[in-house]
Amino acid sequence: MSVGGGAPQRRVHVVTWGCQMNVYDSERIADVLAADGWQMAEDASDANLVVLNTCHIRERAAEKVFSELGRLRRLKEARAAEGRQLRLAVAGCVAQAEGEEILARAPFVDVVLGPQTYHRLPGLLARAEREGAVIDTDFPAETKFDFLPEARARTGGPVAFLAIQEGCDKFCSFCVVPYTRGAEMSRPAAAVIAEARTLVRRGAREITLLGQNVNAWRGEAPGGKNWSLAELLRALAGIEGVARLRYTTSHPRDMDEGLIAAHRDLPALMPFLHLPVQSGSDAVLKRMGRKHRGADYLRIVEKLRAARPDIALSSDFIVGHPGESEADFEATLALVRAVGFAQAFSFKYSPRPGTPAANAADQVPEKDKKARLAALQALLREQQIRFNQAMVGRRMSVLFAGAGRKAGQAVGRSPYLQPVHVDAPAGPLALVGQIREVRILSALPNSLSATLDREEPAFACQT
Ligand code: SAH
Ligand code: SF4
Ligand code: F3S
Repeated sequence: MSVGGGAPQRRVHVVTWGCQMNVYDSERIADVLAADGWQMAEDASDANLVVLNTCHIRERAAEKVFSELGRLRRLKEARAAEGRQLRLAVAGCVAQAEGEEILARAPFVDVVLGPQTYHRLPGLLARAEREGAVIDTDFPAETKFDFLPEARARTGGPVAFLAIQEGCDKFCSFCVVPYTRGAEMSRPAAAVIAEARTLVRRGAREITLLGQNVNAWRGEAPGGKNWSLAELLRALAGIEGVARLRYTTSHPRDMDEGLIAAHRDLPALMPFLHLPVQSGSDAVLKRMGRKHRGADYLRIVEKLRAARPDIALSSDFIVGHPGESEADFEATLALVRAVGFAQAFSFKYSPRPGTPAANAADQVPEKDKKARLAALQALLREQQIRFNQAMVGRRMSVLFAGAGRKAGQAVGRSPYLQPVHVDAPAGPLALVGQIREVRILSALPNSLSATLDREEPAFACQT
């Protein structure tokens, strides 16, 4: 079946797994397709193209792709029996890492494309129509960012992501990202500033800058200068309408003095930082190739707290990396106790094909990984609850982004990224896009509930 430009039968459903960069990429995939006449479908059953934007970070993440493909195969066959078409595209990091395997195991897939080639998706779909399954996992010399349409397919909300950096040159022993995303690249400052202005025009009040190593961003800047992330943040904070800025994910090694000073100087820069440490043991950090020690991390935290005393910290941890002893794990617990995290993600080490740690002889038994993860998560959860409870009675600003789960409630985020629920007498949607002062009434492990402090919006949505 051929489809005409803008014809209503061009409906695409995009499924996203993985990190926030993938969420951003899915939005841009939607933009690319919208420019080619596709409309968004909320569900696969309502679409004639399904794009799976995949994650390869741990084994479980990659397995999900194949089980979802099994389901979509049945849907595709049912459609074919009715004489209708369903096309399937697999994008993202599993596509990059296992492109050939996807086509071998799931020959009913039409297009396989990596994270650097999704701007080519319309052309690839046309080619698949003519020639059968196609695969494009190049790392092209040209950057996709130069080919992405400006308009955004989905309506903008008050909270937006903006990719400024991609890829990784650090090659931690356990990690697939340098292989799936390629070498580190930074977008020029002018392109980032232009996209931030577009996001503000579309209603964004908070922008989160994204990159696999976002604080390694170094960009060409106006006047032939070369900026670091601190300078970019200063420029973005100066854009009218940008009320809040965040950036993620950072590497401790690139946490320079200028960036720490930006936390002191820029009120728009929110006092919350996701700074993965992975382990508290110097021996394990060395094996991981992290290029920092536990003490370096503690020093950075100290400096950040001196610059911005209320800064809340988040992190990622891996337990059971090859060679991790019980004493190494204890060092991780000690680091967690020394820092005090507001929230964190923790994972059992998952061997990834092609990464150095996967071939190490001294793999940690599953039962030890499981016990260590449970112990670490109990401690992190205790810290998170303590952090949330310390908010009770305090006043703070919340950027409201939508309706809460309970009727008549709105939900937004605190400066420290906690979801905050309030009763919204005028209806939850009336609050969307506003930054309002609230008083925290109570704390749950994962969210806060609050009451609006006063009737006048501290910052009203102008668009
Ligand atoms: N760029 C970020 C991490 C991106 S991956 C950084 O450098 O910190 C997100 C998280 O997944 C990592 O921080 C790590 O904790 C986890 N992770 C990565 N590879 C993993 C693996 N093989 N097994 C378990 N967790 C892993
Ligand atoms: Fe992966 Fe390490 Fe690069 Fe982070 S810094 S993306 S963990 S290789
Ligand atoms: Fe996953 Fe790729 Fe992000 S492996 S975590 S989607 S960079």
